[in-house]
Amino acid sequence: MRASFLPLARPSVGREEEREVIDTLRSGWLSTGPKVARFESDLAAATQAAHVVALNSCTAALHLALLASGIGPGDEVVVPAITFPATANAILHCGATPRVVDVEAGTLNLDPAALSAAISSRCRAVIPVHMAGQPAEMDAIISIAAERGVLVIDDAAHAAGATIGGRPIGGDARTAATCFSFHAAKNVTTGEGGALLTAHRDLADRVRLLGNHGLDQDSWARRDGVGDWVPVASGFKYNLTDIAASIGIHQLRRLDGEIDRRQALAQHYRGRLADSPVVPLDVRGGRRHAWQLFVVVLPVDWERGVTRRRLRDANVGSGVHFPALQGHQVYRERCVFEPLPVADQLSSRLVSLPMFGQMTEGDVDDVVVALAGAV
Ligand SMILES: Cc1ncc(COP(=O)(O)O)c(C=O)c1O
Repeated sequence: MRASFLPLARPSVGREEEREVIDTLRSGWLSTGPKVARFESDLAAATQAAHVVALNSCTAALHLALLASGIGPGDEVVVPAITFPATANAILHCGATPRVVDVEAGTLNLDPAALSAAISSRCRAVIPVHMAGQPAEMDAIISIAAERGVLVIDDAAHAAGATIGGRPIGGDARTAATCFSFHAAKNVTTGEGGALLTAHRDLADRVRLLGNHGLDQDSWARRDGVGDWVPVASGFKYNLTDIAASIGIHQLRRLDGEIDRRQALAQHYRGRLADSPVVPLDVRGGRRHAWQLFVVVLPVDWERGVTRRRLRDANVGSGVHFPALQGHQVYRERCVFEPLPVADQLSSRLVSLPMFGQMTEGDVDDVVVALAGAV
């Protein structure tokens, strides 16, 4: 058994982040200011997005993407069944109704055929999730959405650094907006944080306004002590701090290396699991997977709770990404559900194994050995 506990995730944070945070702390400006502006422009350069608005979570970005797109009561928004509650919550916060559709068995990403069948006359948008960091079938989803007059807002909480055909997630002008998460377990972290990326200036301006209480000026614009704000909308307190952005600036620089390392670990996992009854998700060609998570499907006759407890007893952490939305009473009461045979079948069999850049191949070997004894 391993001598020390191997967690599911651990951020890669170095001296550069420490120095930048100290620089910010000493600068006298801790809230939204020049470091956030630098983080936004670095993120725009990395993704080829025309506009980036940093926010304090991906949930805030999803909420404001929908609100700023005019989505509200009476509207429906399509979401995949396998996602984090935040994706559905953002829709409910707008007074709209999530319409939950099935995922593809191999990738857990939204099934374009299920989307096509689910678009009603009330449908205004679809939120594909790039599950575990693997880009969803965006060409198919975008073309179905365009044909039916529906917006695409992608939940890229797992997908900073992912690409499709060489085009970065977040830089596709065919989508209304892309939402990133910089939560502590993500490939790029600011502790907590998020961003909305868009090709559309009006949307970006509206999101910036709504994320700062609806005030026409932020504190940085008023730093000379003379300016006055006017509330022009009833907004939210969703801004990112300069302290958080200080971490993010250097996390972005580490991202390519972090993903390359995760890719090598994923390859090692896949090789070691080749003869195991535990099956990793498929990897699709023509895209760069960000490897935010390493998800496996357990055999039907394994009990997930038992497996996870045995992993923990062997000093290996694990997670579940995600129990399907239809499994939760709160969503059963408030969402509309399409047929969900894949999500129904897989939801109780998903387990995420440790995945972070500082892991070694030896750590992966420990996980695979622990998993073999975790039946
Ligand atoms: C798929 C998905 N969407 C949205 C979120 C919400 O991100 P945040 O915690 O930054 O609000 C998460 C968080 O893990 C997620 O996994």
